[in-house]
Amino acid sequence: MSESKGVFGGGLTIPTLPARWLYRIASTHAFTERGLYLNLGYWAEARTIDEACEAMVELVGRTAGLTSADEVVDVGFGFADQDIYWTRRFAPRRIIGVNITPGQVRVARERVRELGLEERIDPREGSATATGLPDACCDVVIALECAFHFDTRERFFAEAARLLRPGGRLVLADSIPTGPAVDPWRHPLRALLNDAVRAALSVPRANVYPREVYAAKLAAAGFEAVRVESIRDQVLPGWSRALFEDPGLRRRLGPVGWLLRRMSRTPLHEGFDYVLAVARRPSTETVT
Ligand SMILES: C[S@@+](CC[C@H](N)C(=O)[O-])C[C@H]1O[C@@H](n2cnc3c(N)ncnc32)[C@H](O)[C@@H]1O
Repeated sequence: MSESKGVFGGGLTIPTLPARWLYRIASTHAFTERGLYLNLGYWAEARTIDEACEAMVELVGRTAGLTSADEVVDVGFGFADQDIYWTRRFAPRRIIGVNITPGQVRVARERVRELGLEERIDPREGSATATGLPDACCDVVIALECAFHFDTRERFFAEAARLLRPGGRLVLADSIPTGPAVDPWRHPLRALLNDAVRAALSVPRANVYPREVYAAKLAAAGFEAVRVESIRDQVLPGWSRALFEDPGLRRRLGPVGWLLRRMSRTPLHEGFDYVLAVARRPSTETVT
């Protein structure tokens, strides 16, 4: 499916469920037994969903090269488990979180307060595409498994370029539906079902494109040293196995679990990539 066209080349479009509604329905149903993680996990060495979610957070923190000198903006932080992890592991100077789901922000603020980390982590309600934060306010912007929801991912790239100081780093772990898995003219019902799952999972049609286009859009937003690497094989097989074989995960997921299991049986899933993307705001040039 091209960015802007509907299932039948623009004729039929299923409206995308807003992400804050999806996560309102999901409430505090999370993937992990400990904490409230909501990512598919990095399964290179992990054996359980808890280990895999934390391994993903570790991978992103290491890829960002977080240090005690860094001020970080973390968009789509879920319930802030990742910010708590990075604060303990890498001790960045400060993390400002921006999340569209009010219920998650409430829980995150409460957890941060209970841990006495208010000076270090500041979870706020807001949109990744219009954070309201000042220009050049941070050294690192992170989006861990959330940019596929943004309206649009491209607008977020522009916002991240604005927020970063010269030389600052952008890191994303991102699930990307890459395009048409079925021909809508030959298999109209399957195509419609796929599109319905996309819409129900709050993925705007404009965010559907392969990783080469992803890299080109980062470069077009003014980033340099762009690297978009597929880590699909370390993410999706492990996640799918857990989804079908871990009864605890299924129970915790509640209604969202049905949707995810349904999706993993559709060609939409085969058309999915999962990437680790890194880019740098140029040190000298002005980003427009
Ligand atoms: C799949 S969850 C990932 C949560 C967390 N990063 C983790 O790994 O556990 C996606 C997150 O993105 C947030 N989100 C979706 N759209 C957003 C937007 N436009 N701006 C900020 N956050 C958004 C959701 O509220 C949710 O917290």
